[in-house]
Amino acid sequence: MAGESSSWVTIAAVASLDPGKVAGIKVGDLDIALYNVGGAYFATDNVCTHAFALLNEGYLDGDVIECPLHGGCFNVRTGEGLGAPIIRDLKTYATRVFNEEIQIEIAGKA
Ligand code: FES
Repeated sequence: MAGESSSWVTIAAVASLDPGKVAGIKVGDLDIALYNVGGAYFATDNVCTHAFALLNEGYLDGDVIECPLHGGCFNVRTGEGLGAPIIRDLKTYATRVFNEEIQIEIAGKA
């Protein structure tokens, strides 16, 4: 979109997140969940869209995160909610690895 900018922000070292793991990371005002799915990294908002629970305290099974509070599930690649009680998808963030660090793309920062 015209006039919008984004930037890549380092949020973790590659060595800090093993495959099959999820970490909760604060980035400024954002609460990010960072997932390692077989060596590929994905990032979403960490707060469940149903009520208030942190997804990094849930259960990662392949590319699906299950919320610890009511068991709602999301695809971590797309943020898509996978049925009740989830009615709203999760926001996702692009990721990349740069100098052995995991970065996410955040919109609206110069
Ligand atoms: S708060 Fe996550 S499923 Fe209800």
